[in-house]
Amino acid sequence: MHTGEQYHQFFLTSPPDRAVRDRFQKMTLDLLPKGADVLDFGAGTGIDAKTYAAHGHQTFVYEPSESMRDYLAQYCHDEIADKTIVKVTSPLACKVQAVTANFAVLNHFADHTLLFEELSRVVHRGGFVLVSMLNPYYLGDARYGWWRKNVFRLLRRGRYAIASESNIHRFAPRVVVQAAAPHFQLESLVPRGFGWAIDLYMFLLFRRA
Ligand SMILES: C[S@@+](CC[C@H](N)C(=O)[O-])C[C@H]1O[C@@H](n2cnc3c(N)ncnc32)[C@H](O)[C@@H]1O
Repeated sequence: MHTGEQYHQFFLTSPPDRAVRDRFQKMTLDLLPKGADVLDFGAGTGIDAKTYAAHGHQTFVYEPSESMRDYLAQYCHDEIADKTIVKVTSPLACKVQAVTANFAVLNHFADHTLLFEELSRVVHRGGFVLVSMLNPYYLGDARYGWWRKNVFRLLRRGRYAIASESNIHRFAPRVVVQAAAPHFQLESLVPRGFGWAIDLYMFLLFRRA
């Protein structure tokens, strides 16, 4: 189990993870209207939040893990002091243009129906939810017994979980899209084509109807 600080150091020094994060942050910043507020849901140690705040977006952060929150409080000390980053104890405590959930936050949920219902009360109409989730078709995982054991379940039911991985759930995108409806419509899904075999993460962009 990582402490917040270990997680932070690992993610900031891992080139493949940094590349994924850069793409996710760029997509968020390109989509956000100037000065719009954002909720970073499952904000971890505040790496994305700090970037959004630096670009002029007041950023609410919701993070259930105490260890992550403690490190976020250190890393984003100045932004919290000047209220460009605001800690919330429930996502429902803010109303924003966008919600982001980077690096597999939604893989901690067994089902997303209630979550999207809740987020529909947080995101303004016309706003968006951008999430990055583990790509269940990533061929790099095919070397593991658990992947081969679950591949037919994935194709049939669109989801599975393995207990050995702290109850991380994997989803076919269609299952998440179904859970998001009727509050959110899928606007874009990456990767495409061969990317489904080689990209560890998939990005799903939902628009609030
Ligand atoms: C891999 S970390 C990603 C952290 C951060 N988003 C980032 O980009 O570095 C996954 C995060 O999901 C958070 N998480 C787990 N269950 C959650 C839940 N039910 N609601 C919100 N966040 C959750 C964890 O505490 C953890 O910080």
